Amino acid sequence: MNDTRKLIVTSALPYANGALHLGHLVEYLQTDFWVRYQKMTGRNCVYVCADDTHGTPIMLRARRDGITPEELIAKSYEARVREFGAFEVEFDRYGSTNYDENRVLSEDIYVKLRDKGFISKRSVDQLYCEHDNLFLPGRFVKGTCPKCGAADQYGDGCEVCGATYNANELVNPYCSVCGAKPVMRASEQLFFELEPFRDWLREWIPAHTDAATAEKLLEWFNEPLRGWNISRDAPYFGFKIPGYDDKYFYVWLDAPIGYMAVLTRWCTEHGEHFEDWWQNPESEICHFIGKDITRFHCLFWPSLLHNAGYRTPDKVFVHGFLTVNGEKMSKSKGTFISADTYLKHLPAQALRFYYACKLNGSVDDMDLNLTDFVSRVNSDLIGKITNLASRGAQMINRSCGGTLGRMDDGSRALLAACRARIPEVLEAYERRDFCRAMVIVREMADEANRLFDAKEPWKLVKVDTEATRAVLTGTLNLFRVMAILLKPVLPVYAGKVEKLFGEAPYTFADAQKDIEGCPIGAYEHLAARIDAKAVEAMVSDSREDLRSTAKATVDSAKAKQEKKGAKKSAMPAVFPEPASETIDIETLSKVDLRVAQVVSAEAVEGSDKLLRLMLDVGEDKPRQVFAGIRKAYAPEELIGQQIVMVANLAPRKMRFGVSEGMILASTGADGTFRVMQPMTPTTPGARLH
Ligand code: 2FM
Ligand code: ZN
Repeated sequence: MNDTRKLIVTSALPYANGALHLGHLVEYLQTDFWVRYQKMTGRNCVYVCADDTHGTPIMLRARRDGITPEELIAKSYEARVREFGAFEVEFDRYGSTNYDENRVLSEDIYVKLRDKGFISKRSVDQLYCEHDNLFLPGRFVKGTCPKCGAADQYGDGCEVCGATYNANELVNPYCSVCGAKPVMRASEQLFFELEPFRDWLREWIPAHTDAATAEKLLEWFNEPLRGWNISRDAPYFGFKIPGYDDKYFYVWLDAPIGYMAVLTRWCTEHGEHFEDWWQNPESEICHFIGKDITRFHCLFWPSLLHNAGYRTPDKVFVHGFLTVNGEKMSKSKGTFISADTYLKHLPAQALRFYYACKLNGSVDDMDLNLTDFVSRVNSDLIGKITNLASRGAQMINRSCGGTLGRMDDGSRALLAACRARIPEVLEAYERRDFCRAMVIVREMADEANRLFDAKEPWKLVKVDTEATRAVLTGTLNLFRVMAILLKPVLPVYAGKVEKLFGEAPYTFADAQKDIEGCPIGAYEHLAARIDAKAVEAMVSDSREDLRSTAKATVDSAKAKQEKKGAKKSAMPAVFPEPASETIDIETLSKVDLRVAQVVSAEAVEGSDKLLRLMLDVGEDKPRQVFAGIRKAYAPEELIGQQIVMVANLAPRKMRFGVSEGMILASTGADGTFRVMQPMTPTTPGARLH
């Protein structure tokens, strides 16, 4: 191992308009473990990250909140720094993609590519909302799926049948911000062409990422590589493109350049030079990212850098998604847990320890099984590891004058055996196989506990203080080695151990040192057991969070409306969607509307929008209907309720089964569904007139 290694490490930049959740933390925690491991080995490592601040969603969110985007991102920055701090994630610099350094670098890269002829101009037809004066990105336009006819689908794909399409293909599109019908408008866009770099990329990709990721990415090479649209029209929150007054860089162009910008800021603050880091062939540029953004990091990003004369990443470490209890995180099940909600109920280090026990450096999804979480933390971290310190230190303080002696022979032999395994632990850390590192430490703890139990110091202390001191000195030396090995994962915990032994911050080299014949400090509680009730409360709070978020949206919209002097209304804002074409009474009477009683409701696996409802409409057996209301209602809220359904809609085959009708619901300007109900309960199957 070359210990003069110089590393630049990054995690993907979180968007400035959303709260962190446990899924995000899979990435930040593993990067933090790796960085701390590198630093403890003595390597020169800089960990940078930033808020990803540009784009339409942030602009619109600020507009909705009645503040400027700059105010929004300043608020987000504060929250983010607090959340990361609470989870013990330590960046060398956390910044913002809105830094001036980022504008300068983005312009520089763009101009170099443009001057080399890699930027082309093409006219593109896009949906435009004349009410909001906005070109609508796929996520901001909704309509009927052109493939299966499902209503209220986003412009970039249908949740019901799984089809992907262009927003322009949606039937009856509407602006999801204001509800107006958009028009098609052509505008000139700038494309970064990838096809010229096909051969270069084909070699670059497998050399810089894992085999599974490379294989997936290389599938794109079976067809000509499509140019990448790097421009967006005003209004947009971002950096203006040189030479244009009304065009901005697409957020995904300047986001990864943010890695370089924050490094530049760090260099300025520390008297270092960007060239000695990013451009230094001796340094290693390592990105940690999720599997959903490999295209940006392994196709566009290296091509941009390579052609603009910058070094490309050395490694792109890709990880999978988080599942909770074996399923996709779910808002209605309360398993979509925000960082803040977690912290209200549980200690950060428990999650750090559990994630370390599960992460093995692969692209596979990682499961947070909440029952396993409780037992793993309680039995391994507390029962096996921490108990060595609490029993050892408290007994030394109570019965041996608080001073270590010389270790007994058994402990000395076990300590040597543990030290012999340290290279294995470090190699596991290097490969990001944190799980393996945790297993080895746990095995060390098992051995140390066996020895402790065999020596029975609680009996020995009654007859021989010095022999007891020797045993406990051994126990504490063994524990200390474990704490050093755990420090990348549990830095605050290790900090308390440093204090217990009165030592300077640990590096891995300290694990070779014996601690004998010296006083120790008072034992400070290192970690608490987890109560399964706290986990239950966190899950139930996460369900409530969802309702209070929906309520807060409605309340804030109401407040705004009232401020503007509008008439009080149960609806938060007026939907200026024009009425559809007039129909006659015969046409209307073709629609058979019935009162339906919800017999059962459940989330549909694989969809974060759909609920599967079984509806009693007075027939022999209930009808199965899929409804896209999962974000608005928990299944249990619906069971037993009476709602309204279209009973004579032709059955539709969907990805998850056949839907035998459609329920009636409205969306307000806040986009939240409200299911329609009869004012007075009636017989299931009753017809509406
Ligand atoms: O997917 C995301 O959340 C993006 N904000 C990640 C950006 S990573 C980098 F390229 F900036
Ligand atoms: Zn609009």
